[in-house]
Amino acid sequence: MSNAYYAPGDQRAAKVNDLFARIARRYDFLNDLQSFGLHRLWKRRVVRLAQIKSGDRALDLCCGTGDITFALARAGADATGLDFSAQMLEVAKNRSEKLKSPTANSHLPSPNFIQGDAQQLPFPENSFDVVTVGYGLRNLTSWERGLDEMFRVARPGARLIVLDFGKPANALWRGLYFTHLKMSVPLMGWMFCGDASAYAYILESLKHYPAQLAVAEKMRQLKLENVRVINLLGGAMAINYGEKPN
Ligand SMILES: C[S@@+](CC[C@H](N)C(=O)[O-])C[C@H]1O[C@@H](n2cnc3c(N)ncnc32)[C@H](O)[C@@H]1O
Repeated sequence: MSNAYYAPGDQRAAKVNDLFARIARRYDFLNDLQSFGLHRLWKRRVVRLAQIKSGDRALDLCCGTGDITFALARAGADATGLDFSAQMLEVAKNRSEKLKSPTANSHLPSPNFIQGDAQQLPFPENSFDVVTVGYGLRNLTSWERGLDEMFRVARPGARLIVLDFGKPANALWRGLYFTHLKMSVPLMGWMFCGDASAYAYILESLKHYPAQLAVAEKMRQLKLENVRVINLLGGAMAINYGEKPN
């Protein structure tokens, strides 16, 4: 059965945009619920891998409501979050305003949030020391194009880090995990967002995304160094890491 938010080719971006416009307000809540809060740990792992030095310029693509962007800023980076969804960015900017309020007691520099397409970045080459993307590459019309853009805007020595749903190598675990994505995740989407299809999209998009092994292969083709795949929960989630050569 086809999914209301998945379309191949030219229609893809418009459908993905509709999806995130629809779920933006409940996105953070459902992330916590569906991952039992674990997504926070995985995002922290991304930021540790980024090895931020004070003043590093960091770009977080498909930043959504800004979890990774804020964490990069907290680690000392001059952080920019980019997303094409006005509704997701609105949540990120509201979070930023709250941090700036006098009662927040936060002295951290706020990240910069901009609207743009991850496949056509509005930055010159060699601009960033760190480029991250969390749960974003899978949603692009061309994930390869997204990775090419990450590479282009990265400075020599920069760390490129991708966090996304993965495909477990173990067939039994993969079957159980896909059943969870097919049944319980859409059910929770229906219960808390009124939209099962928006959450059934995760499995649909994952089926069309070659996941951690192909991302690592593409990183090697780009001649990134120290390419690593970090499997989480037996490969149900994965982090891809690589460094742009000096
Ligand atoms: C699943 S959310 C991830 C948000 C955040 N990175 C996180 O980990 O919580 C995916 C995000 O990718 C954005 N997105 C999808 N395609 C995009 C594109 N071509 N350019 C920029 N953002 C895009 C969506 O708007 C959405 O906010």
